[in-house]
Amino acid sequence: MNTLVLAGVVGYLIGSIPFSYIIPKLKGIDITKVGSGNVGGTNVLRNLGAKYGAAAMFLDIMKAVIAVLIFKKFGEQPMVMAGAMSVIGHCYSPFVKFKGGKGVATTLGSFFAIFPQAGMFALGIWIMVVALTKYVSLASMIGLTAGTLFSLAFGKRYWVIFLALTLFSIMRHKENIQRLLNGNERKTDVVDYFLG
Ligand code: G3P
Repeated sequence: MNTLVLAGVVGYLIGSIPFSYIIPKLKGIDITKVGSGNVGGTNVLRNLGAKYGAAAMFLDIMKAVIAVLIFKKFGEQPMVMAGAMSVIGHCYSPFVKFKGGKGVATTLGSFFAIFPQAGMFALGIWIMVVALTKYVSLASMIGLTAGTLFSLAFGKRYWVIFLALTLFSIMRHKENIQRLLNGNERKTDVVDYFLG
């Protein structure tokens, strides 16, 4: 099999492991039925607290990191393909009826593994926006956009893929955007969960 195709398939399969679904399920909670219903770390944080929320976020980040690292030695294209497809696997997981999260943690993990400085920048902006506004969705969209612009500013060819992943994630935030515009988006005090 062609390395690029293999990277896509392996990336997809690793990304499709639904940690944010499995962790709550082990505690008897169906994450799709509580809070925002999103299969994502933020919703785990809201419903199960800091320990489980952090675990879900970390594992959703790490699956992209691992997918990218497996293919790093084959060059830039397979590495980027593995990261991008891990996001698709996360969002359309066969283990949760081809549903999934909004791709934020997995995209962030791809950024970290492909261009660590862009990942750090995106995370830094995410933390800042979430601390200031308590809107995780807003922080996620701005953070990923910041990471993409960072990679563009540093002349990375794969900035276009970062942009595609960011736009894809923003599209999956359609309902959050509507709530933000209506002024009824959920506020989640992430800082308080972790430090409070
Ligand atoms: O990680 C997804 C986040 O940006 C929004 O999640 O649960 O508030 O819709 P949620």
